[in-house]
Amino acid sequence: MARKPAEKQTKTKPTTTVIAVGNQKGGVGKTTTAVNLAAALGTMGKRSLIIDLDANCGATRSFGIPPESYLGSFEVMLGEEDPVSVAIETDAEEGIELPEGVALITANRNLEIVDSELIKKHRLVDYRDCLRKPIETLRASGRWDYIFLDTAPNIHTPTAAAYRVAEWFILTATPDRLAIDGLNDAMSDIDTVRRYNNPDLKLLGVVLSRVSRNTKLAGEVINWVEEAFKDAGIYGDFRIRISSTTEVPKAQRDGLTILQTRPSHKVALEYKKLAREFLKRLRQSEQPAKKSSKPKQAA
Ligand SMILES: Nc1ncnc2c1ncn2[C@@H]1O[C@H](COP(=O)(O)OP(=O)(O)OP(=O)(O)O)[C@@H](O)[C@H]1O
Ligand SMILES: [Mg+2]
Repeated sequence: MARKPAEKQTKTKPTTTVIAVGNQKGGVGKTTTAVNLAAALGTMGKRSLIIDLDANCGATRSFGIPPESYLGSFEVMLGEEDPVSVAIETDAEEGIELPEGVALITANRNLEIVDSELIKKHRLVDYRDCLRKPIETLRASGRWDYIFLDTAPNIHTPTAAAYRVAEWFILTATPDRLAIDGLNDAMSDIDTVRRYNNPDLKLLGVVLSRVSRNTKLAGEVINWVEEAFKDAGIYGDFRIRISSTTEVPKAQRDGLTILQTRPSHKVALEYKKLAREFLKRLRQSEQPAKKSSKPKQAA
């Protein structure tokens, strides 16, 4: 078939959506959600970049990458490294196997001292804006559909910086005793950031992981989440529960995701369902703008 003349081809600008994955509470599935959601999106032909912003290097370790081996988010936040060139992808020679469509900017322990380093460098500007420029550069590269910011269980600079640049927020929780307090605290953090720093930050949804449906506590937390987010429209509760299985930590110990080790496992399928819902919500979020271009009918 004849190709269209080059000048008639309409070139659509690639867009990149930035999503922070967070909850100040530790061990509630932030990293696992970011990594597995990115991997599930990869099976659907979408390209994701995960930026590990935790000094404990959860995402980096979960891909089996020794944290000190690469330059990563610390150097990017200090403006010392170009974020595109420190993003690593599958590299057989280096022994790195990332899920299809997934790239990673690694973390290292230096993130613990990033505040003092940034204060020295940026004495006149707000150093918590240190991810703005890197995100602009990553967007301009057009290489990724989604950037997931995997945050730490604290509100230190990397977390604050992530909340400032993200368009969307995915809140993660596990059904344990303190889950509801954690979710309330996280919602109030999002509100504060929205009010003072980033009015564009929106909640895309809550992901409940490590759910064993037959426990009373899980039932209580699920009911609370369903009730608390029922008026949140298309956002709020994702309504897809990620079940508990030892296959998740087992895959992580081998530097892989359950999407790679057990692609037909119930939990791998739950992550795929989550990815489909994620895409649907993002598509739906664009619709009100289109609708509002229609003139309103006079009453
Ligand atoms: N569906 C699941 N079934 C069983 N274990 C899981 C599941 N999802 C996550 N885990 C395990 O729960 C633990 C905590 O998960 P994860 O590291 O993702 O939480 P986190 O919120 O990122 O933690 P941190 O706050 O320390 O960064 C990990 O050991 C992980 O392997
Ligand atoms: Mg983590």
